[in-house]
Amino acid sequence: LRTAVLVSGRGSNMAALMEACADPAFPAEIVGVISNNRDAAALQTATDAGIPALHVEHRGRSREDFEAELHDRLQGLEAGFLCNAGFMRILTAGFVDRWLDRHLNIHPSLLPAYKGLHVHERAIADGVRFSGCTVHFVRAEMDAGPIVVQAAVPVHGGDTAESLAARVLQAEHRIYPLALRWAGEGRLRVEGQRVIVDGAAD
Ligand code: GRF
Repeated sequence: LRTAVLVSGRGSNMAALMEACADPAFPAEIVGVISNNRDAAALQTATDAGIPALHVEHRGRSREDFEAELHDRLQGLEAGFLCNAGFMRILTAGFVDRWLDRHLNIHPSLLPAYKGLHVHERAIADGVRFSGCTVHFVRAEMDAGPIVVQAAVPVHGGDTAESLAARVLQAEHRIYPLALRWAGEGRLRVEGQRVIVDGAAD
């Protein structure tokens, strides 16, 4: 599965996907990384690994214009699948439709709880005992979309947003490669808001 990764920053999830894809037996490969932020550390990490790393500027132009260039770049990479990994731009319905059910995102909460930003601060303030992360197919509505896989982690009494984020991030690095593996194996079927994982015990 020829996969491109969209990033805006640090790129630790991108790195986890790259590491999984480095195994020749893994059913997906990273054909390129695209960032809307020229300074994203992820671009350097990808370059160092020999993966094409591209910058597409979003500032000073319309969303449609930005997405047209993004789409051209993806075609140039001959990507057939997309993974958002800390990609901080909202995409229009037009772009989302072109990649429908071929486009994943990872979010650091147990969706549908805590969509949007500052999730760990909000979870701690609410006193929840568990949080976690979700890999889901992208829809035009932010952090909505059919759920592929989730992992839960405990929230401890002494947690700060930073300590909880670090615990959740470890789980992110486990489940994102798992979701991409299933996609590469052609096992994911979307039925309405649900994802059926073919061959899964449940
Ligand atoms: C992750 O927590 C991801 O879930 C969220 O943004 C963060 C990106 O981290 N969407 P990284 O760039 O993958 O290290």
